[in-house]
Amino acid sequence: MENIDYSKRSFNYYPTNAIVTSKCIDGKWSAPEVNTDFNLSLHCFAGIFHYAPSCFEGLKAYRGVDNRIRLFRPDENAKRMISSANYLDMPAPSVELFIEMCKMCVIANWEYIPPFDSAGSLYLRPILIGINPQLGIRSSDDVMLAVMASGVGTYSGAKILVPGTAVLSRNFDRAATFGSGGYKLGANYAQSLHAYNIAHNLGYRELLFLDTATHSHIEEFGSSNFFAIKNGCYITPDSTSVLPSITNKSLRTVAEELGLKVERRKIYVEELAEMEEVNSCGTAVVITPICSIDDKPGLESKEITRTYKFGDTVGTVSEKLYHRIVGIQKGMEEDTYGWCQFVEK
Ligand code: PLP
Ligand code: COI
Repeated sequence: MENIDYSKRSFNYYPTNAIVTSKCIDGKWSAPEVNTDFNLSLHCFAGIFHYAPSCFEGLKAYRGVDNRIRLFRPDENAKRMISSANYLDMPAPSVELFIEMCKMCVIANWEYIPPFDSAGSLYLRPILIGINPQLGIRSSDDVMLAVMASGVGTYSGAKILVPGTAVLSRNFDRAATFGSGGYKLGANYAQSLHAYNIAHNLGYRELLFLDTATHSHIEEFGSSNFFAIKNGCYITPDSTSVLPSITNKSLRTVAEELGLKVERRKIYVEELAEMEEVNSCGTAVVITPICSIDDKPGLESKEITRTYKFGDTVGTVSEKLYHRIVGIQKGMEEDTYGWCQFVEK
């Protein structure tokens, strides 16, 4: 294993050994290849450069307490990529090919899997892009699936479970009500970058998007889903324009196991005042507590109309959820649901 201090790393690109690629040309997938060249050679008329036929995934390989390497629910990532590709009307890999390529990528970058006792993990980023030359507006017929890896620390670079601030996005939307928010498309992130930059430059860690039709209820953060704890309830928005997070889905199961009631429903902004614990959740952020959310007329505005506060340390319920989920991912807790898949070298 490389001698790397993962406590100094955040969620970033750090060089690794190799990527794994496969192409689907004329409906036929090629055998996946391990490649040490990280540069992809693509035709400049490839759809990806014009109309963004692009979707991606994010999952992590964890070194367990038993030193074994686990992937957390890669079948769910595969299914979500298939659903994103279907939405883009382009070829999708099978669940089996997707998982095989993820495992090949972990093996090719074995020495970059962080130690068990670090907050690090080997983050896998599968991308699916349209590659055939085209000019007219149409979906791609041919695609490339590439799986790459980066040995990452915590999302923000802060210690685990250190709360961060957020701001509501009143004047920038992420995903339209009948749009593509429920799919993991590059285009959704392109749309959020400008607002994200404003929020970050103002010192906020997260940006919380609202529904585009009424701007009255909460959708999700730019990087992750929203969940809150109130009166023994795990509450998370129910919306087709929110990305169906695998972490959130797993947390809902774990929350019920811990005796919480689970509610998926509309959460109006004003209800934030009643929330006891608020968090962002996702593969990259795991569970990151939110200590305050500012509401402003517009992101660039100097005026703060209201600040919702949730405490400067992680909430007790959220902390329990964190330890149960990370415990399963790192082999410290029984994987009751068979969520983890082992990678053997
Ligand atoms: N929402 C957004 C916008 C995301 O980018 C992510 C990250 O994948 C999530 C939610 C969390 O999804 P998951 O838990 O599947 O990583
Ligand atoms: C992940 O959590 O895997 C993501 O893809 C979020 C990332 C875009 C910050």
